[in-house]
Amino acid sequence: MSKVHEIAITVNGEELHETVEARKTLVDFLREDLGLTGSHIGCEHGVCGACTVRVDGAIMRGCLMLAVQCDGARVDTIEGVADSGEIADLQDAFQRRNALQCGYCTPGMLLTAAELLQGGGAPDRATIREHLSGNYCRCTGYQAIIDAIEAVAHSRAGAR
Ligand code: FES
Ligand code: FES
Repeated sequence: MSKVHEIAITVNGEELHETVEARKTLVDFLREDLGLTGSHIGCEHGVCGACTVRVDGAIMRGCLMLAVQCDGARVDTIEGVADSGEIADLQDAFQRRNALQCGYCTPGMLLTAAELLQGGGAPDRATIREHLSGNYCRCTGYQAIIDAIEAVAHSRAGAR
């Protein structure tokens, strides 16, 4: 039987004390134990970006971290970030520009795009592509995703 550990973790602003198996990944913990299924599981090898979450403010692969490694950490998932309104403009642009089809990659794309745009300015398309290069999409061909992020970058830069 796998060992279990007590962890203290803040998820989407809520302080939790949970018991987790030592081998449980962060994304499995979020999905199975907390019911936060917006973080998806694709490759489980750190390649596709479907499991992207924020840990202490930086985006991470939820499939490459163990839940026990997040003891004492602050984790934000797409549910929390979306509810906060922080990415409302990105969500709107993705919808308007058809930057999602099946939506499987979308939470990871949005969190990764949000990280890039936090840096300010208006990154060019090459920079956006480079920043998203660890997030795979099987549906859209990426153009609409880049379009949406570029539009939000310009609109945020114009609003400053
Ligand atoms: S499921 Fe984590 S990177 Fe693919
Ligand atoms: S919209 Fe289907 S994988 Fe990206």
